Amino acid sequence: MNTLTVVHDFDLSGYTTFGFAQKAAHYVEVETDDQLADAVQLARDEHWPILPLGEGSNIVLTQDYNGLVIRQTGQRIEYVSLPENATTTDTHSIARTVNDKGTHSQTQANVETPIQTLTNAQTRTQTETKTQSLANAEKRVQSDSELQPDKPTQAMSRRMLVTAAAGVNWHTLVMDTVNKGLVGLENLSLIPGLVGAAPVQNIGAYGVELCDRFVSLKALHIQSGRWQTFTIDDCEFAYRDSLFKRHIGQYIIANVSFELGSHIKLQTGYGALNQYLDTHCVNQAPTAAIVSEAVCAIRRSKLPNPAALPNAGSFFHNPVIPAAQYTALTKEHPDMVGYRQPDGQYKVAAGWLIDHLGYKGYCHEGVGVHEHQALVLVKYAPATGSALLALANTIQTHVLRVFGITLSIEPRLI
Ligand code: FAD
Ligand code: EPU
Repeated sequence: MNTLTVVHDFDLSGYTTFGFAQKAAHYVEVETDDQLADAVQLARDEHWPILPLGEGSNIVLTQDYNGLVIRQTGQRIEYVSLPENATTTDTHSIARTVNDKGTHSQTQANVETPIQTLTNAQTRTQTETKTQSLANAEKRVQSDSELQPDKPTQAMSRRMLVTAAAGVNWHTLVMDTVNKGLVGLENLSLIPGLVGAAPVQNIGAYGVELCDRFVSLKALHIQSGRWQTFTIDDCEFAYRDSLFKRHIGQYIIANVSFELGSHIKLQTGYGALNQYLDTHCVNQAPTAAIVSEAVCAIRRSKLPNPAALPNAGSFFHNPVIPAAQYTALTKEHPDMVGYRQPDGQYKVAAGWLIDHLGYKGYCHEGVGVHEHQALVLVKYAPATGSALLALANTIQTHVLRVFGITLSIEPRLI
């Protein structure tokens, strides 16, 4: 068994973006797959429930956690060139080879696969100590605005399999791929959090969801301690949803593989993105780097930086309602914002509903609604998770009464 440093009665206030002052009965950081397996074994032996924690940007702590909080710190990113004619089966099999190798010990983290490994960022695994890695992860949450796409540094193969460890900061992964000239993740720039959490709610923004670029992931089944590989068909991805969210607490994700490259078409159709590019990039054909910059600029103008104003992004899902209900509502509220879905239903902008009820800028007991984006609840002053939940419930009740629509909460509540 690897040596694990378990800290007891651990203060989690700096470990979620809302920053509520709750404690974990036990807390451990793990860098390798073997350490993760050992931590899970320890929790099983001690009958402790497990909470995998990334950057806490989608978790609201309303009470102490009476179990083991596990934080993954591995920083490996691996790039493997795919043959031009690789089939889905080939890609899965190559991803499995990368996964099987894993990071079973710190010293093996740099072992080359038999497959051509073009470049990687795993040197960070060796050069960053655990403490540095944690400090850097925290710095990344606080200073996302400093991360800007560079010019592409290296010509990459047309099709590339990119596998990132759960502990890699999501935006760092996006920038790493964009800087290498790889198309695919640019619309998902600046989403807070770690790679390991990204599949849990199938993160999405500006017309792209994680599942659009996903190949497979490797996860540990907590109850049995067995490693499993999940391909896209296994993950049950949907809007802000997946098997891992529906069966919360059953798996810990250790790494995630994506297929990226110049064969992927840039997605610039999302309203706000399209308008931005039309205004700011008039005589330039968009590239992944340009789209990434545009997405970062739009996000900074709309969403509060959690380091300055604690929040967890959208607090509610955008509800999907039947066409008949949408038609009836738009007769009464012609400016209501909704988007037709492929199945004929409508996804309604929850931000519009909450905004329409006058909540923008509202504040009570330290928590409130962001002044520019009504879907984002914020902590304006010292407050508790319970006060935040009370506000969320007030908004839900009000929206249901006026529009007959039930809003569901996006972040995980503890
Ligand atoms: P955490 O909040 O730490 O955890 C989230 C959930 O995942 C928890 O249930 C946790 O137990 C579980 N989990 C964490 N790691 C693992 C793992 N390795 N294995 C299994 N389960 C795990 N989301 C979007 O989809 N689109 C957006 O545009 C977006 N914008 C945001 C903007 C802001 C300002 C903020 C604060 C949040 C935003 N989010 C957005 C939500 C959030 O960034 C994502 O959900 C992100 O993936 C959460 O990552 P995290 O590391 O912080 O996860
Ligand atoms: N709107 C208002 N008032 C508001 C907020 C929004 O009228 O206060 C209207 C806007 O005018 C716009 C529409 O609602 O027409 C949609 O707003 P926006 O483009 O800001 O997107 P959103 O629906 O509020 C969703 C995601 C975000 C994601 C963006 C961009 C959900 C729950 N939220 O927000 O994801 O970044 O689209 O794709 O799907 C997150 O999940 O945490 C998150 C931030």
